[in-house]
Amino acid sequence: MDSIRRSLVLIAFLGILSAYAQSPPSIAPAATPAFSISAARSLDALLQDYAYRAFVRPRTGVLYNASVPPNITGITLSVIRFRSGSLRSKGVAQLKEFSVPVGVIEKPWVQRLALVYQNLGNWSSSYYGLPGYTFLSPVLALLAYDAQNLSATNLSELSFVASGKPILIHFQNVKSPIDGSTPQCVWFNLEGLPEFKDLESGENNTCSTTQQGHFSIVVNSTAPPAPAPSERPPTPGFGPSEKKSSSKKVWKIVGIVVGSFLFLVLLSSFIAWMWRHHKKKELKTMADRSEQGEPLRRRTIGGSPMPLAGASQRTLPEPPEDEFQSRETSTT
Ligand SMILES: *[C@@H]1O[C@H](CO)[C@@H](O)[C@H](O)[C@H]1NC(C)=O
Ligand SMILES: *[C@@H]1O[C@H](CO)[C@@H](O)[C@H](O)[C@H]1NC(C)=O
Ligand SMILES: *[C@@H]1O[C@H](CO)[C@@H](O)[C@H](O)[C@H]1NC(C)=O
Ligand SMILES: *[C@@H]1O[C@H](CO)[C@@H](O)[C@H](O)[C@H]1NC(C)=O
Ligand SMILES: *[C@@H]1O[C@H](CO)[C@@H](O)[C@H](O)[C@H]1NC(C)=O
Ligand SMILES: *[C@@H]1O[C@H](CO)[C@@H](O)[C@H](O)[C@H]1NC(C)=O
Ligand SMILES: *[C@@H]1O[C@H](CO)[C@@H](O)[C@H](O)[C@H]1NC(C)=O
Repeated sequence: MDSIRRSLVLIAFLGILSAYAQSPPSIAPAATPAFSISAARSLDALLQDYAYRAFVRPRTGVLYNASVPPNITGITLSVIRFRSGSLRSKGVAQLKEFSVPVGVIEKPWVQRLALVYQNLGNWSSSYYGLPGYTFLSPVLALLAYDAQNLSATNLSELSFVASGKPILIHFQNVKSPIDGSTPQCVWFNLEGLPEFKDLESGENNTCSTTQQGHFSIVVNSTAPPAPAPSERPPTPGFGPSEKKSSSKKVWKIVGIVVGSFLFLVLLSSFIAWMWRHHKKKELKTMADRSEQGEPLRRRTIGGSPMPLAGASQRTLPEPPEDEFQSRETSTT
């Protein structure tokens, strides 16, 4: 009996501990971007694959237009291939809206690399929606890949840094902000985190960067006009993943509540049982003592756990008290 209860209490306790140990990661996704970064990254992988299909007997340093699958019509895609050293020593004066200066270093070193250019067109806010901001230009991207094997797919990007002058992006056909608010450059790194920056001064609609990623010009739209919910249609993959994580949370909470409840029930029954056990023991020792003829009077008056005995002790005269006590204990 004793050991069963104890192990039940232990199991409940361990259950609660494990529920609490699992709960901290559920707090972390508070800082997730407003769009689905995994959808954006699989688009990058798809576009790398389609860009490389444009390389049929490719010449280095020549920009090729690539086609995109029909389900993402509206995105334009181009690609250019270099010998590693030539990009670093010559740069590319004009690669669509980008101008890549000398001194660009890729890591790890590869013999040949490709720069994939993306213009997300009317898909920009589907893949890179930013609540509170309006895009004044489509999202553009420049991403670097190893171009040794042109049938390779699912490549990861090379790291790519402009070590001298920054790369400049001259945006074309930029919309004017509605109410004279100040446009800003936005850069999404490969983790999808946006970073804001002022436009280059003395240039028209130009942003600068030292790294690869996705770029656009935005304006804060939360300030004067009413919020425009039409700006951000739901992105693929966003709904399901959110639902999944919230149902996970619910299960964790249910687990903690049920576990805590079980634990409290078991703990209180354990305490009650201990209490009864303790009482029984005390009665037993008293019985033993009375059988041995040991005087009981002083102990029971002092700190008896039996209120019945205590109450009667005060009202009854001395001699019957002993009689009462021995009768009472012998019945148990
Ligand atoms: C690539 O497409 C652009 C327009 O999207 C066009 O101006 C350019 O001539 C094309 N380049 C080649 C090599 O076909
Ligand atoms: C578009 O189609 C391609 C294949 O044609 C597929 O791999 C890709 O997942 C599709 N993308 C979207 C966003 O539906
Ligand atoms: C973008 O425009 C193309 C036609 O040019 C259309 O087929 C596609 O559905 C549009 N995409 C979005 C997200 O509206
Ligand atoms: C290039 O990549 C493809 C697809 O991953 C692979 O099947 C092929 O063996 C690779 N070729 C070389 C020469 O590595
Ligand atoms: C692409 O590569 C990543 C790791 O770099 C891997 O987790 C993923 O499963 C791959 N996807 C495909 C379709 O091969
Ligand atoms: C910016 O655009 C304005 C008018 O469109 C033009 O007058 C000006 O020269 C341009 N500045 C630069 C640096 O290109
Ligand atoms: C937009 O501007 C308003 C007022 O200038 C500011 O309170 C708000 O935080 C800004 N929104 C964002 C997303 O930066």
